[in-house]
Amino acid sequence: MPLRRTTYLPTAAWDETAARCSGNRNPVLSAPGLQLVYDAYMRSWYEEDAFWETFAPSLFTAERTSHAAAEVEAIIALLQLQPGARLLDLCCGPGRHSLEFARHGFLVTGVDRTGSYLEQAQQSARSEQLNIEFVKSDMRSFVRPDMFDAAINFLTSFGYFENPADDFKVVQNLATSLRVGGKFLLDANGKEVVARNFQGRKWCRNDDGTFFLEEARIIDGWDLVETKWLLIGAGTTKEFTLRVRLYAASELTALLKRAGFREAQLSVMSTAAPMMIRPSGS
Ligand SMILES: C[S@@+](CC[C@H](N)C(=O)[O-])C[C@H]1O[C@@H](n2cnc3c(N)ncnc32)[C@H](O)[C@@H]1O
Repeated sequence: MPLRRTTYLPTAAWDETAARCSGNRNPVLSAPGLQLVYDAYMRSWYEEDAFWETFAPSLFTAERTSHAAAEVEAIIALLQLQPGARLLDLCCGPGRHSLEFARHGFLVTGVDRTGSYLEQAQQSARSEQLNIEFVKSDMRSFVRPDMFDAAINFLTSFGYFENPADDFKVVQNLATSLRVGGKFLLDANGKEVVARNFQGRKWCRNDDGTFFLEEARIIDGWDLVETKWLLIGAGTTKEFTLRVRLYAASELTALLKRAGFREAQLSVMSTAAPMMIRPSGS
């Protein structure tokens, strides 16, 4: 039996398997070997290195990477970051923003679960002699009390977990990790933005000539967006199904306040809906 899921089940089969084995630990599987196979098989999409590696060319195109400089300028102005501030780039990926912040002289910690992305980020930092701390960690467990002046979470890197309590854990960790008066910028597709701009199907050609196709549908009464991502090229097709939790502005504000943030500001940009939040000053 394979330890890694190398072929991907059609969604219906996957759902059926998930329903049959509901819960992340199956009490029926008593043998440790079987539990290992079960864990590997039942990993969520965001825990699959193969997912992030397959779609890296679609996520981090040369064009998107080139936008990071302007985005960082906008973030510095929006958050009124002072020179030498200590920043957390939560879910930093290959480090588009971490690198750019470090070029501006900020003290940056980039956190991500995907080893290959962090290696790429580290290599880029080394080649420019930039001193950035990259940490391999799950966003649910990374916490550094009172360490950062600001934190960002960019490019829809929030709302991945099956259990919304995990999203709460992430914002609680952020509230703990920010100094009093610190700010958190979340770049996400809010429910309102999705309702206005929803597009069921999209496709584009990657820089390397492969094709990226996306098919999305809203499920669970607007709680989640389920998206099939396909990469077609070089004689193969790879397919994954993602589920991301959708938050309305009011829901996100309530979540952040419950975690200890004092104030939430929302703004809609041309390509995203960033939200600036200040944690409690007391
Ligand atoms: C859409 S990418 C965004 C990357 C980066 N923020 C950017 O704007 O280029 C999402 C990132 O979240 C990371 N990620 C996914 N699940 C995670 C988790 N549970 N803990 C930490 N990082 C996670 C992925 O490895 C990936 O780098």
